[in-house]
Order: sequence, then C-alpha cells, then structure tokens
Amino acid sequence: MKILWNDQIVEESEVKIDTEDRGYQFGDGLYEVIRIYDGVFYMENEHLDRLWRCAEKVRLQLPFERAEFSQRLHRFAEEVGIKNGRLYFQITRGVAKPRLHNYPDPNIVQPVLTGDIQKVDRPTKQQENGVRCGTVADKRWLHCDIKSISLLGNIMALNEAQEKGYDDAVLVRDGIVTETSASNFWMVKDRTLYTHPDGELILPGIAKIKVRELADQLGLAIAEEPFAVDFLMTADECFKTSSVAEVMPIVEIDGQKIGNGTPGEVTKSLLNAYIQDVEETVTKM
Ligand SMILES: Cc1ncc(COP(=O)(O)O)c(C=O)c1O
Repeated sequence: MKILWNDQIVEESEVKIDTEDRGYQFGDGLYEVIRIYDGVFYMENEHLDRLWRCAEKVRLQLPFERAEFSQRLHRFAEEVGIKNGRLYFQITRGVAKPRLHNYPDPNIVQPVLTGDIQKVDRPTKQQENGVRCGTVADKRWLHCDIKSISLLGNIMALNEAQEKGYDDAVLVRDGIVTETSASNFWMVKDRTLYTHPDGELILPGIAKIKVRELADQLGLAIAEEPFAVDFLMTADECFKTSSVAEVMPIVEIDGQKIGNGTPGEVTKSLLNAYIQDVEETVTKM
C-alpha cells in the first residue's frame, strides 16, 4: 500500500514513525477523512476548512499552504489510482525530544503528515436495512469539535454499545443526545429534523453541512437544538450522517423500534438526494 508521508509518496514499509512522535506519544494531532467518488474529492473545501480551523484551535502550524496541500493530496490519489474510496490523513505535531507536554517551538519541530487511500463502497446494504443503536453515556472531553486523533472516548463508547449487541452508540451527555461514535445524529418528528447544534459537544460534520442544504431543498424544517433522550424515543425516524456512511437509517434504539422499525421516508429521501448530489458533483468535474 502506498502512503503519503510528508511530501513523499512511499511504500508502507518505508515509512518511519519516530517513537517520540507526539501523535504516537500523546495523541497530539489532527485527522481528516475525505470520500472520493469516481476520482473526485467530495466536499474537499469543507474538509480543508475544518482542518485549518482545528489546527488553529490546537495551535498546530500546518507546514504547507492550502493550495499546495490540496495538490499534494490529488497527486497522491492519482498515483494510488483508487477511484472510489476514502482518503484518511493525519498530521501530528511532530517529533520533539525530550518528551514534554508543552507545545514545542514550531520553528524547530515540524508536523508529520501520513495518509492512505483505501477502496470503500457505498454501504448499500446497511443503508437499505438501517442499523441498530444503543444509548451510551458521552464521557468524551469538551473539545469534540476538534477532529483530534485521540479517539479513545469514541472507541470506548462504540465498544460499549457493541458489547451489548448494537451496531453503534448514540451518545448522551447530561440527558441530551449529542451524536454517535463516529457520525452526527439526527431524528425526524413531524417532518422536522432535529440535530444537536455545532459547538464543543459534537464534531461539525461535513455530511451534516450537505444534509442541511438538501433538507432545505426538500422543504424540511431543521431544528438545531439540544434535545433529550425522552424526546428521541418519540422519533418518527432516526439516522446518522458521515462522509463514509452518507445518510444511514437507524431503525432501533435500546431495543425499541423507531417508527415501524424500517428506514423512514424522510431519511430515504435525504439519502437519495445525497446520492444524487454525489452523482451531479462527479459529472460536473
Ligand atoms: C464523532 C464524529 N462525529 C461526526 C462525524 C461525521 O463527520 P463527517 O460528516 O465530516 O464525516 C465523525 C466522522 O468521523 C465523527 O467521528
């Protein structure tokens, strides 16, 4: 497998990660996942906007200009040659010795970039059938808006849900539904979409941006406001969104069927609109 390693494209076996890399030591780094359809990076600008925003928040000085970085990613995708997949890259704060918690001098310590592209297909079967979730306490930190490589809180929540036999965790903080372990969460009631507002308690998803736009086009109202688990349990429909899952119906939560236990009409119309938008974007490029 080819790896993007700083400004080089190398074989996986050639990559050297220093044991003192702050990503490895402290989880001190950021990442992004961009879906590639037919060679086109879907919503690339929004992903790069988020990366730059997150870098600012954690005072990580990105060692490249945005246009050059974009070209680097596209060159990498061309060389790998996977037309339908996902690009995953991460940028750590770099290798600093001795191992101290304070941010190292960015003039001395350069961030380390690694990335790979793997083939992924649209999860059609799951989109048709929906997934089952369980509620799990959201015990993550209070910077969930930062796309940090430190995902232990998300990993623990997912595994807690899976140990109970569910596909994913719906995270609940102080009685309020935030998101799922790796997607934004939405519920539908009386043709209004409810989802947690952006802020420090959730990751502002890129698929979420698109779904807002599509909901508008479909004449659906959106209430971006905190809502409680009790209200969730009265939902007509539920779904989650992410760049890889797109619009994924949730048909059961904590063993209770949502609606009639199959993907709802609003969810299906949003998924269809999302797929159509992908197709139109690919055709335009
Ligand atoms: C916690 C969390 N929320 C939401 C998302 C959805 O983000 P996006 O739509 O940008 O893929 C992700 C994606 O990885 C995530 O990890």
